[in-house]
Amino acid sequence: MAKDRSRSTTHQTWNGICIRRESGKPVFEINEVPQDTLNALAGDQLWPTQPIPVKPAPFVRQTLTTKDINPYAADSAKKKLQEQINSYRIGKMFIPPGKQPSLIFPGYDGGAEWGGPAFDPETGILYVNANEMAWVMEMYDNKYEAPKKETYGLAGKRLYANNCSVCHGMDQKGTGNNPALVDINKKYTYETFITHINNGRRMMPAFAFLSQQDKDAIASFILDQKAEQKKEYKAVPIDPLTDPNYMPYKMAGYTKFMSSDGYPGITPPWGTLNAINLNTGDLVWKVPLGEYEALKAKGVPPTGTENYGGPVVTAGGLVFIAAARDAKMRAFNKYTGKQVWEYDLPAPGFATPAVFELEGRMFIVIACGGGKLGTQSSDKYLAFALPAAAKK
Ligand code: HEC
Repeated sequence: MAKDRSRSTTHQTWNGICIRRESGKPVFEINEVPQDTLNALAGDQLWPTQPIPVKPAPFVRQTLTTKDINPYAADSAKKKLQEQINSYRIGKMFIPPGKQPSLIFPGYDGGAEWGGPAFDPETGILYVNANEMAWVMEMYDNKYEAPKKETYGLAGKRLYANNCSVCHGMDQKGTGNNPALVDINKKYTYETFITHINNGRRMMPAFAFLSQQDKDAIASFILDQKAEQKKEYKAVPIDPLTDPNYMPYKMAGYTKFMSSDGYPGITPPWGTLNAINLNTGDLVWKVPLGEYEALKAKGVPPTGTENYGGPVVTAGGLVFIAAARDAKMRAFNKYTGKQVWEYDLPAPGFATPAVFELEGRMFIVIACGGGKLGTQSSDKYLAFALPAAAKK
């Protein structure tokens, strides 16, 4: 692979795709596989095929059955999960979005994630961590209503529903990895709020395109500005059939398929680390990445957890990765996948480690930002090295 000068990229939902970098030609055959286009929402046109490489083999499951319910959830939670999954459309990877909820699997956040994989030029092996989290996709009609006489408060609520609720939830309690906005007026003034929605931040897009009146109406609603909420909103009617900004459907939110006792709703593994030989396209090894302490205490074998941030591979034969929800940094034997070391971090390291050499000594640094997946936040960076005396 290294000699071949090929490039590889991992994909959020399925396989790796290997492409020769001089020619752009795929290393392994890619087939256009027919997909479901039935039951698309009226007005949606779906492409009839998807490109699926014959190799490398997928490094995550790609479909689920109604039997794949988390076996470790409490009985009452399991019953609820079973009822839910029976009511969803499942069993294929590319199910058209519709009003009957469907499971998005392996999920909005991977398969592979933004941490990226690590590549070992010595062996041609690619190391990639992956998530297996099912999310619920549900669409609903966004009925156009001609503007009525509105106050800022009411307009703000409507504009919030159209622009913000998909991430922050209609109840403002947050969805998926997006934070709650309840009592946000304790944290933001009018000015800092407007700056925030004009600029966006990290995973939050900017909303500078909204009119000042719209931003002020949203601010009055979210920041609970009682006096502002009474102001009269001057609406401009649109034609929903021709206005390119009008969306006939809305998505109900980024909802994870979770059990009521806080675990992923499906059978494990929920997070893995995978080694793929890019010369042959074969999976060399796969191990769960991360654990839930409570399940471990019950004797449940490692389930893996959702993970964000990638691995690094060293010439010394190790793969280092944090990424898991359980706030550990781990090292694996790069040939066998056997875990050889772990260390408790002050908060999860949702980041890719940085490796550098200083005066002949190798250091590995991880940013322990935490915060995601309901975990503790931190501003610590940890650096690891072998004792100075041990160096050759
Ligand atoms: C695509 C998803 C998405 C949409 C749509 C979205 N947000 Fe956000 N929002 C986020 C995320 C993710 C964060 C956390 C950003 C970070 O990590 O700094 C956030 C943060 C915020 C915060 C700061 C929360 C805090 O505790 O500091 C506010 C306020 C906010 N959003 C308001 C809005 C408003 C108002 C809208 C609609 C105009 C909106 N958001 C639309 C994803 C979204």
